[in-house]
Amino acid sequence: MFPEHRPRRLRTTPAMRRLVGETELRPRQLILPMFVAEGIDTPRPISSMPGVVQHTRDTLRKAAAEAVNAGVGGLMLFGIPKTRDAEGSGAIDPNGILNVALRDLRAELGDSTVLMADTCLDEFTDHGHCGVLDAEGGVDNDATLRLYAEMGLAQAEAGAHLLGPSGMMDGQVGVIRGALDRAGRTDTGILAYSAKFASAFYGPFREAVDSQLKGDRKTYQQDPGNVREALREIELDIAEGADMVMVKPALSYLDVIRAAAEASPVPVAAYNISGEYAMVEAAAANGWLDRERTILEVLTSIRRAGADMILTYWAAEAAAWLD
Ligand code: PBG
Repeated sequence: MFPEHRPRRLRTTPAMRRLVGETELRPRQLILPMFVAEGIDTPRPISSMPGVVQHTRDTLRKAAAEAVNAGVGGLMLFGIPKTRDAEGSGAIDPNGILNVALRDLRAELGDSTVLMADTCLDEFTDHGHCGVLDAEGGVDNDATLRLYAEMGLAQAEAGAHLLGPSGMMDGQVGVIRGALDRAGRTDTGILAYSAKFASAFYGPFREAVDSQLKGDRKTYQQDPGNVREALREIELDIAEGADMVMVKPALSYLDVIRAAAEASPVPVAAYNISGEYAMVEAAAANGWLDRERTILEVLTSIRRAGADMILTYWAAEAAAWLD
């Protein structure tokens, strides 16, 4: 008899395929990134991310509650201030848009979800870099750390359960952990954007936050070709006190996610970023891809690579499909 081996037997019926499925994708594993803008009356669409908006404080509250009802595991918040300065002071101000919105959501949702905040200055600086600049125009690592510590504390006080330092400054996890602990905020956790690459796929996000950046972030974000360096970043962040680590972007970095999953003693998140979202939405809008199938395949692949959780702009919608 030939063929002797017939793997197709396990694919014969939907029930059989369900029984032998290796990768679970559940709503609780999906985290919804959301944008809130200061001083707007109606939500503003983001043209390169169809379906995603800059929220007003009110629409944010409503959309966040809906996402939580759909079963998502958490929310990651980004703020877009009305005015910016060289130091990104709106990030630290308790009345800055991100801190105000965190307070709104914590009051609305309590502990029913995990509330996360982007701990990074780029949305708040007038030059668009993730840190403050030195006299030569370079990003000053250690001066930036002092601001991250204050920003993180402000976010914890505003109600964030998890802080997401995403600026790729050396020592950022350590200084934020130290500031939280000294203030008695020992329960506030850190989801470290540990392996964050200098990626072209962030393009639509720059529109989403009205980014002021000229040039690139290559002196702080990683070279897309480097996986060993990613593992070193992860190791350092864990040593500095990260409760979870992240790989970002996701789709071009599935091997990095796999390596991180094998090496990390803490949960691994992956960020299915704006450009990955935009590619699928654009192709689906043209009728070139089946939207729902593609999205579920993308998310399943990131889980299969080893991510415990996924930040994705499809989180609420996909959670509803999976329910
Ligand atoms: C930095 C930050 C960025 C993203 C998340 N946090 C932008 C950047 O590093 O340029 C990108 C997310 C996305 O593209 O979906 N605050």
